[in-house]
Amino acid sequence: MTEALNETVSVTDILDHLTRAVVLVDGDCRVERMNASAESLLQVSSRQALGEALFKLFPGLGVLEEAIAHALLDGASYTEREMRVLLNAERTVTLDCAITPIPGNYLLLEFEQIDRHLRISRENRLIAQNQAIRELIRGLAHEIKNPLGGLRGAAQLLEAELSSPELKEYTGIIISEADRLRTLVNGLLGPESRIEKQPTNLHEVLERVRHLAVAEAPVGVDIKRDYDPSIPDLPAAGDQLIQALLNLVRNALQALGDEGTITLQTRSQRRFTIGDKQHRLVARIDIIDNGPGIPPALQDQIFYPMVTGRAEGTGIGLPIAQNLVNQHGGLIECSSEPGRTVFTVWLPLEDSND
Ligand SMILES: Nc1ncnc2c1ncn2[C@@H]1O[C@H](COP(=O)(O)OP(=O)(O)O)[C@@H](O)[C@H]1O
Ligand SMILES: [Mg+2]
Repeated sequence: MTEALNETVSVTDILDHLTRAVVLVDGDCRVERMNASAESLLQVSSRQALGEALFKLFPGLGVLEEAIAHALLDGASYTEREMRVLLNAERTVTLDCAITPIPGNYLLLEFEQIDRHLRISRENRLIAQNQAIRELIRGLAHEIKNPLGGLRGAAQLLEAELSSPELKEYTGIIISEADRLRTLVNGLLGPESRIEKQPTNLHEVLERVRHLAVAEAPVGVDIKRDYDPSIPDLPAAGDQLIQALLNLVRNALQALGDEGTITLQTRSQRRFTIGDKQHRLVARIDIIDNGPGIPPALQDQIFYPMVTGRAEGTGIGLPIAQNLVNQHGGLIECSSEPGRTVFTVWLPLEDSND
C-alpha cells in the first residue's frame, strides 16, 4: 500500500496540495522549502525565498522571533495566535502560526490565514444583501415606470391642445421631469437582459474610463495609471464594466473637487475567494483617491440605494456599480480614511457561469 502510494504521489505534490501554508526553515531561520499555499499567502516564489533569512524577507513576521528561539532551544512546539502581519505595503493579514521543531535542527512553520474566514462570511452577507436590495428596487421601479408613462403621454396630449406658450412651458416641465425620473428608474433596473460576456481587455476598458474622466476633470486633478500588463482578457460585457468603473471614478472626482490625484491600478491575484467561490486567478482594480474620504457615518451604507453624501447626489452610482460587477461574478469593496479612499473591484478571470 505505502509503496504504491510512493510511486504515484510525491511528498512535494502532497505539500503543494495542502491548503495550509507551510514553510520549512533551518536553525538560522533561513527558508529551506515552502509549499504552493505559502507562496500564494506570502506572495513570493520558492525560487526567490530559498536560502533567504525569513525575517529579512518578511519583516512583518518579526513577532515570531521569540517563539522560534524558544522552539529551537527546548525542542517544543509553539503557537502564535492572531498575529496581525503586514505582508507588503498593501496587505495586512491575520495569521495563526504553529511552530514545530523537527529533527536535524529544522523548524516547520504552518500558517493559517484566519481573516479569510471572517472576510468570506462578511462577503456572503454583502452579496445576499445586494440581492435583496436588487429585488426590492426592481419591484419599486416597475411600479413607478408604468404610471410615469401615462403621466408623460397625458402631458403630451395636453401640450398639443394648448396654444399659449406660457402654458406649454408647464407641460414641458412635466415631460422633462418625467424623462429624468425614467432615466433614474432605468438606472435602478440595470441592464435590460442578461449581459453578454466576451473576452475583454481590462486595460482597454480602463483607458476608456480614464479618457472620459480626464475630459471631466478640473486641471488640478491628476489621473494616474499603474497597470499590470500581464493580466489576461476576462469574460465581460465591456460597456457594463465601463459604466461600473466610471461611477467609481466620478465619485472620486466629485470628492476631490479642484485638486488631487486619482490612481487607476490593476493587479492579478492567484487563488482568491470572492464570496465563497475560489478562483484560480482574479483581477484586482483599485481606484484610489487622496480626497477627504467617506464620512464615517456613511461608510457602512454607501452601497445601499439612495444613500448620498452630496447635496446634488442620487445615491444610485455605487449600487449600480456593485450590481454590474456582481453580474460578472465579482465584488466591490471599499476602504476609506481622510487622504486615501480605495474602491477595490475584484473580477474573476475565468468564466463563472458554471
Ligand atoms: N471616492 C470617494 N470619496 C469620498 N466619498 C465617496 C467616494 N465615493 C463615494 N463616496 C460617498 O458615497 C456616496 C454615494 O455614492 P453614489 O452611490 O455614487 O451616489 P452619489 O454619487 O449620487 O452621491 C457619495 O455621495 C459620497 O458621499
Ligand atoms: Mg456617484
